[in-house]
Amino acid sequence: MTPDTTAATTQKDTRTALVTGASSGIGAALARQLASQGWDLVLVARNRERLERIAEDLRRQHAVSVEILPQDLALPNAAQVVHTWIRQHAITVDLLVNNAGAGSSGPVIAAAEHAYESLITLNITSLTELSRLFAGDMVGRGRGQILNVASTGAYQPGPYTAVYYAAKSYVHSFSLALDMELRGTGVSVSLLCPGATATEFSSRAGKADLTTAMPAAQVARVAVQGLGRRQRLIIPGLGNRLVIVLSKILPGHWLAWMVARIQKPLLLK
Ligand SMILES: NC(=O)c1ccc[n+]([C@@H]2O[C@H](COP(=O)([O-])OP(=O)(O)OC[C@H]3O[C@@H](n4cnc5c(N)ncnc54)[C@H](OP(=O)(O)O)[C@@H]3O)[C@@H](O)[C@H]2O)c1
Repeated sequence: MTPDTTAATTQKDTRTALVTGASSGIGAALARQLASQGWDLVLVARNRERLERIAEDLRRQHAVSVEILPQDLALPNAAQVVHTWIRQHAITVDLLVNNAGAGSSGPVIAAAEHAYESLITLNITSLTELSRLFAGDMVGRGRGQILNVASTGAYQPGPYTAVYYAAKSYVHSFSLALDMELRGTGVSVSLLCPGATATEFSSRAGKADLTTAMPAAQVARVAVQGLGRRQRLIIPGLGNRLVIVLSKILPGHWLAWMVARIQKPLLLK
């Protein structure tokens, strides 16, 4: 992207990050954190007005270049649309942040027919395709980074949010595997596993937030620090790290029993 001549420092970093789900929560906080470090940005989500407001704010505060791309990533071929748009605008994406995601709540058998299709397309298909397309470009240039946002829920079965936890298990497995395939290419894949975070996520999924939810800005700060070190697994907070250690030790059906006891009371209807 064209460097902004109003940049605050003469050594302005003109690397560009594409952040999905940048219109609120963790994605908006990641965009803010990256902009504060001089990254140019492409912000993707559905809500154009929110993206415009955030972009304007970041340009003003950090003198970086910010483009917006309103796009529903739950639509088939959304990843190809994003990739084509990036090519048409001659933008080089140095960091892809696959953050956009949505949750599920309630018993599986209570869900409507096809209710999970858009969740799976958003959380799995688009993330996979965006990773494939942009990783290919990055390998061609011999450098680049991908940050995939999973969850501590990737490590447990999630009764009453079963499809969402399962989708995050996919993101976990896929990201580690892709990172291994890319070793030696100059491209790395990092996995961010936040625990409960205070965003719009829970209310959108039809459930209450845990009272222990971490601020999104804190998650973003830890994530961007980890990216700077090319850390492969980024888990914000000691409590969340302990949850993951425990999840690797305990049998799956014990974990399912414990998660059910946490998730069921959070259901709003
Ligand atoms: N909050 C938590 O407790 C928590 C914990 C662990 C992991 N995570 C993960 O963190 C990521 C961010 O979630 P958040 O907590 O920041 O929730 P959030 O505030 O609801 O943000 C979700 C973002 O994803 C975008 N999005 C949702 N559906 C989309 C679609 N169909 N197409 C394009 N963009 C879409 C939303 O924007 P638009 O509505 O404008 O499209 C929004 O920018 C998700 O992957 C989530 O699974 C969250």
